[in-house]
Amino acid sequence: MIEVQNLSKQFGAFNAVSDISFTVNKGEVLGFLGPNGAGKSTTMKMITGFLAPNSGTVKVCGSDVIKSPIAVKKSIGYLPEGAPAYGDMTVVNFLKFVAEIRGFSGAEKTKRIENAIQKANLEGVVHKTIETLSKGFKRRVGLAQSILHDPPVLVMDEPTDGLDPNQKHEVRLLIKEMAKNKAIIISTHILEEVDAICDRAIIIAQGKVKFDGTPEELESLSEYHNSVRLRLDGYPSLNAENLLKRLPGVKKVEHVNSKDERTTYRIYGGEKDLLKEVSRLAQKEQWVIDEIAVEKGHLDDVFRQLTTEQEAEG
Ligand SMILES: Nc1ncnc2c1ncn2[C@@H]1O[C@H](COP(=O)(O)OP(=O)(O)OP(=O)(O)O)[C@@H](O)[C@H]1O
Ligand SMILES: [Mg+2]
Repeated sequence: MIEVQNLSKQFGAFNAVSDISFTVNKGEVLGFLGPNGAGKSTTMKMITGFLAPNSGTVKVCGSDVIKSPIAVKKSIGYLPEGAPAYGDMTVVNFLKFVAEIRGFSGAEKTKRIENAIQKANLEGVVHKTIETLSKGFKRRVGLAQSILHDPPVLVMDEPTDGLDPNQKHEVRLLIKEMAKNKAIIISTHILEEVDAICDRAIIIAQGKVKFDGTPEELESLSEYHNSVRLRLDGYPSLNAENLLKRLPGVKKVEHVNSKDERTTYRIYGGEKDLLKEVSRLAQKEQWVIDEIAVEKGHLDDVFRQLTTEQEAEG
C-alpha cells in the first residue's frame, strides 16, 4: 500500500535522505527509528506529499504522490511532527473544519467527529481552544484529525511523544487495533514501542537505511541475544564459573557481580539459548537459583551500534 523507491532529499548541499526504498503492506505497522536529524520526518513529509523529493518515487495505494496528489491525500491520514493545528479554534470546531475539508457533511460528519473524539479521548476538552490545551492533549487533537476519515494508510510522526503512560498505552492499543486493515508507519524514539506494536522496523541514520527487518531480528543483533542470566543465592566457589564454562555449547561466561549475598553470571551460547543445560547443572550442583532468564537482547545497544558506525571511505 506504500511503495517508496530510491527516495532522496537534499537541503542545499546537505543530504537529508539518501536513496531510501521500502514497502509497507496492509496489516503491517512499520516503525521508523533513528537518531535526531536522521531523516525520519523528512521521509514522512515526502510520503504524504508535504515535501517534494529531489529524486525517487512514492506510491500510496497505487497512486503517485506527485502525479496524483489529491488521490494520495484522500487515502492518507497524517500526524505531523508536533501536531500543528489552528490554535484559536476549539477542538470540536477544528475537527468540523477537517471533516468538511475531507468532504463530509450532515450526519456522516457528526458521526465521524464523535468517533474521532472518542478514539483520541478528547471528550473532556471539546470546547476548549487548542492553544490552551496541554502538550499531550494537542497531540491527541492531531491524532483525532489524522484518523477522522478512516484512511487505509496512516503516517504518524512520533504518535506517543508527550503522552502520559496511560495515554501511551491507549494510543498503542488504538494503533494495533487499526493496523488490521491499514498500512501504518510510525516514527518513535521509544525502542520498546517497536516490540509492542511494530511488525517491522527500519533504522535510518544520516539519511540512509541501516536496518530493515522484524523486531526479533533487530534483537538478535544484540550481543546479549539468547544469553542466560543466572543469579545464585550466596557466593559459590570459583569452580562454579569453570563448571558453567565446560557446559557443551557455552561460548563465554561472564561473572556479572557478587553483591547482596547473591552472585550473577551471564552465559553466552550463540544460536540457541542454554537455559536447560544451565538449570540442569544448577540442580546437580545444588546451587540455589534466585533468578534465571534468557535475554532477548538489548535494543538500545543495537540501536547505538547501528547508528554510530563510521561510514566507510569511498
Ligand atoms: N526545511 C529544511 N531545511 C534545511 N534542513 C532541513 C529542513 N528540514 C529538515 N532539515 C534537516 O534534515 C535533517 C533531517 O531532519 P528530520 O527532521 O527528517 O530528522 P528526524 O529523523 O525526524 O529527527 P528527530 O528525531 O529529531 O525528529 C536534519 O539535519 C534537519 O536539520
Ligand atoms: Mg522527526
